[in-house]
Amino acid sequence: MEKVKSYANIAIIKYWGKKDKQKMIPATSSISLTLKDLYTETEIEFIDDAEIKKEVEKNGEKFSGVRDLFFLNSELQDKIHTEKISKVVDLFRTQENEKNKKVKIKTTNNMPTAAGLSSSSSGLSAIIKACNKLFKKNLSQEQLAQISKYGSGSSARSFFGPVGMWDKNTGEVSEVKTDLKLAMIVLVLNEEKKIISSRKGMALCMETSTSFDEWIRQSEIDFENMKKYLSEGDFSKVGELTEENALRMHETTKNANPPFTYLTEKSFEAMEYVKKLRKQGERCYFTMDAGPNVKVLCLEEDFERLKDILGKKYKIIASKCKVISDNDD
Ligand code: ADP
Ligand code: DP6
Repeated sequence: MEKVKSYANIAIIKYWGKKDKQKMIPATSSISLTLKDLYTETEIEFIDDAEIKKEVEKNGEKFSGVRDLFFLNSELQDKIHTEKISKVVDLFRTQENEKNKKVKIKTTNNMPTAAGLSSSSSGLSAIIKACNKLFKKNLSQEQLAQISKYGSGSSARSFFGPVGMWDKNTGEVSEVKTDLKLAMIVLVLNEEKKIISSRKGMALCMETSTSFDEWIRQSEIDFENMKKYLSEGDFSKVGELTEENALRMHETTKNANPPFTYLTEKSFEAMEYVKKLRKQGERCYFTMDAGPNVKVLCLEEDFERLKDILGKKYKIIASKCKVISDNDD
């Protein structure tokens, strides 16, 4: 059996849209922080058909036809969810003698799943890492990132940290160098599973949103500027652009057909609170993903104080960034 741990990442320049779904070319380049205290732990082992049969008999009809066993947060997943993961494992079952190998995966997230807290990035990157070990492929971080994007686009960035990027033009996934020591404090406003997944949401926006072309155009500028601000170590510029880019992404959902939003009353209140703290002299900025929860970007040096302030008002998950090395496992 192999065991791995992988870390979630939260984007400060968002990946939102696919230019080519088959080749997994994103519509926008993205930049994210890899967070050491938001993670997934995954175990993987080879099993035989008899074990799958036994488990299916025990659990019922909706599990029949699964090719592998996939336990997410201790619950056996049904055929649809398992098939998504089996397809990811297929990316490692490439040799003739690997084609019929079945696996059992047990995976646990330390953050709420599918609530916009990026469980897909840590979850999918963990599966890729686990397969790399089990199938003894010995691939580099860049190679793993390139496979991981097929599982979930954002997961590719989890192979780099503290700051990672995915460039839509070159396809490259890599580290972004910066002297800034960044951290994030997640305000957990709602832990429920979101109604529209990121995948569906971005597809709907790409197909129908009247502001999507503008989003792509501006995102290209945002990406270049963010790289510049990070390399210059200009935190207030990084923060301001983080907020602007997130709001631009959320604007595309409002202009979709039918229009929708991931943000709730509580999200707007939290954003206002972050702005209020800023007026009081705190250095903090918000970002939101495909869910109502608000993430607060800050510097490591302000981390403990902001944790205290925000923790008095909200349930929080706070994390500094994770430095990922070449032999990270
Ligand atoms: P989130 O905001 O949490 O990333 P998404 O809707 O984008 O939410 O993705 C959630 C999906 O990611 C889950 O439905 C599941 O398919 C996948 N996922 C989450 N955690 C794991 C995990 N530990 N292992 C494998 N897949 C996972
Ligand atoms: C809003 O990576 O979950 O979090 O590639 O379809 O699996 P798929 O989508 P996913 O989308 C992430 C969207 C986002 C922004 C980001 O992380 O860059």
